[in-house]
Amino acid sequence: MSKIRPPRKFSGIIFITGTDTGVGKTTFTALLLAHLRQQGVRALAMKPFCSGSRDDVRLLQSLQRGEMSDDEANPFYYDLPLAPLIAARKGRGPKVQLREVIRKVRATKKKCDVLLVEGSGGIFVPLGEAFTVLDLIQKLGCPTVIVGRNRLGTINHTMMSIYLSEVFGIKTFASILMGESKMDISAQFNAPFLQEKIGWSRVFSLPFLKGNLRRVPGVKKSAKKIKKVLVRFWDAATVSLSSIPKMGLIDNKPVDG
Ligand SMILES: Nc1ncnc2c1ncn2[C@@H]1O[C@H](COP(=O)(O)OP(=O)(O)OP(=O)(O)O)[C@@H](O)[C@H]1O
Ligand SMILES: [Mg+2]
Repeated sequence: MSKIRPPRKFSGIIFITGTDTGVGKTTFTALLLAHLRQQGVRALAMKPFCSGSRDDVRLLQSLQRGEMSDDEANPFYYDLPLAPLIAARKGRGPKVQLREVIRKVRATKKKCDVLLVEGSGGIFVPLGEAFTVLDLIQKLGCPTVIVGRNRLGTINHTMMSIYLSEVFGIKTFASILMGESKMDISAQFNAPFLQEKIGWSRVFSLPFLKGNLRRVPGVKKSAKKIKKVLVRFWDAATVSLSSIPKMGLIDNKPVDG
């Protein structure tokens, strides 16, 4: 019998952003979505902005079939692989106001207890003329996760993303490091260093997962395989978020010397 206890109840939005494009945001969102739904949580996922293809939303939708339309899961689509604002300026998709995005996200939240929102690229990607991903997270006022690759460079990218988020008053409660097929020498040191800087309980390392992570069976199988990490992640999410109204990962102690 499994000793893993059922997930704590938490209602709200969790924003999944990353240090860059292609770092594992959809993969983590899909794994968490599969895990939560398997545990009986009323969870849904959406990606408000897609550029170039809707593959990310197709994957998320395949895990929550029939619960919302593709246009609800992805209200703003651009047919070139460019930052949404740049694509919109080229006439390849809608020009969007921040309030429209907030309205769409909040409408989707009404359909579930937990809404996972995947961002586009990293935090400073321009989404509209007057707003970036950071502005969107700030307006949603929701806890945020930073996904990054477990390779050389991730300390810099992760710390910059967390620091800038905090300047905007955003609660970044977790850093997720995604395993690579070939780990470089930095991979064994990245998590311990980030743990030292931002708290051991808030850094989560996922291994390189074999199997097709773009299909439901592959995602579900992998979610099972890393269940302990996902349970620990969900504990961190729910406990800290309900008990600490405003939380930072970075302390502001001056650096010696
Ligand atoms: N832990 C992992 N194990 C194996 N493959 C992974 C892992 N994390 C990510 N990948 C693979 O890396 C690629 C990029 O991941 P993903 O699509 O999740 O990135 P993303 O940050 O969502 O990208 P985008 O900015 O385009 O939305 C995918 O092929 C995915 O399957
Ligand atoms: Mg993605």
